[in-house]
Amino acid sequence: MELIFEISTAGRRGFIPPKLDVDSYNLSDEFKRAVPPKLPELTEGDVVRHYTNLSRLNYAVDIGFYPLGSCTMKYNPKLNESAAAFDGFSKIHPYQDENTVQGALELMYNLQEALKIMSGMDAMTLQPAAGAHGEYTGVAVIRAYHEHKKDFERDEMIIPDSAHGTNPATATMNGYKAIEIKSDKNGMVDIDELKKIVNPHTAGIMLTNPNTLGLFDENVLQISKIIHDAGGLLYYDGANFNAIMGKARPGDLGFDVVHFNLHKTFSTPHGMGGPGAGPIGVKKFLESFLPVPTVGKKDEKYFLDYSHKNTIGRVRSFYGNFSVLVRAYAYILTMGGDGLKRASEMAVLNANYLRAKISKTLEVPYDTKPCMHEFVATTEPLLGYGVKALDFVKRMLDYGVHPPTVYFPLIVHEDLMIEPTETESKMTLDKFVEIVEKIAKEAKENPKLLQEAPHITPVRRLDDVRAAKQLILRWK
Ligand SMILES: Cc1ncc(COP(=O)(O)O)c(C=O)c1O
Repeated sequence: MELIFEISTAGRRGFIPPKLDVDSYNLSDEFKRAVPPKLPELTEGDVVRHYTNLSRLNYAVDIGFYPLGSCTMKYNPKLNESAAAFDGFSKIHPYQDENTVQGALELMYNLQEALKIMSGMDAMTLQPAAGAHGEYTGVAVIRAYHEHKKDFERDEMIIPDSAHGTNPATATMNGYKAIEIKSDKNGMVDIDELKKIVNPHTAGIMLTNPNTLGLFDENVLQISKIIHDAGGLLYYDGANFNAIMGKARPGDLGFDVVHFNLHKTFSTPHGMGGPGAGPIGVKKFLESFLPVPTVGKKDEKYFLDYSHKNTIGRVRSFYGNFSVLVRAYAYILTMGGDGLKRASEMAVLNANYLRAKISKTLEVPYDTKPCMHEFVATTEPLLGYGVKALDFVKRMLDYGVHPPTVYFPLIVHEDLMIEPTETESKMTLDKFVEIVEKIAKEAKENPKLLQEAPHITPVRRLDDVRAAKQLILRWK
């Protein structure tokens, strides 16, 4: 597709301002540009066509099935968008006086309260702007707690080998050594190994439950006891909260700090790094370490609370990604408690249905018990035909679906991590199964078809590494 500069024609205009009906003012030369800016020259129609065509090159959850494991690409109700666009929310300014933004503060306060109830935590901050940012903030709180107790010896954070890469990155950025713990043959934290690893240096453990294999670790209470007995704290990576909303609360399972991925669980269009919100919740004894401000309420008035005595400081300008908070709150209100619980049930049902169907075509390791909201399959046996997981999923693009996550978690080779979410119908899931079956057949009969896929997309195979490392963002 041509760039907007390439379709520019000198002298073409999208807008011609009316003739001046006031005196003109002669700006002094020092404020004038020496050379006019090189802007594309187009009509309004050209611009509309250009951006509409550009948007059609993209794939989105509003176009089709998007089973991107660990990302919870569920349908985002448009009602939430309308709420986020209300003038009273979208046109306020963070420097406004508290008295003039009581509605916005009330929304944030109520959201904090709802998240506290759902997670079983006692205090909340909405500041972090993403899951990874929530992790960073939560582990900074753990660190501040140990330091406050003058417990400077604790410099290790335990992280399962199935964890998302942001977990070890978070631990490292907070100055901890990330200590990897192996999963056992059922994909759970290996308890014997854990008992050997914990020691007076243990600051805590970061756990995702259900984990990235889509499995709920039933030993969580035992894990909690082992870590707490050793003086460490438990961090809950809540990116997979979509599987347990209204069913289990991390706070009841022994976790001390939790982050939510509002943009996944509570519906916000997301992808490619934003926009997001990663609020964290903590138990009472950690409340004083939270970043400031949080939102408080006194005598029916809402206020920004800067009173946290041992605060780790600010982690973001102002109060977080406010419009994401509005969407999440709208979602929670429209779903209600029973609706949220039902959403989790449907997410789990859909994943199990898909797993049962797909396991007839692809191997599904760790399938000793039902999965939660997602599962992991592998195309490893197809390596014999020269077909990699990447080839397999690139071919899916030709059939009009977004590929699942690949090569994560790292403990399964050539894997596809599939998360259908609760908003997909049986018809969509059945179509996806058909596509998987077709591609598995093609892999054996005509591997080249997969190796050279996709065939019908606007761009074919990109060099992922170069595309990320050598960005060309300027038109020359
Ligand atoms: C298990 C898990 N933890 C943490 C994250 C990080 O969340 P975010 O992408 O919002 O930074 C993700 C993201 O996919 C995840 O799947």
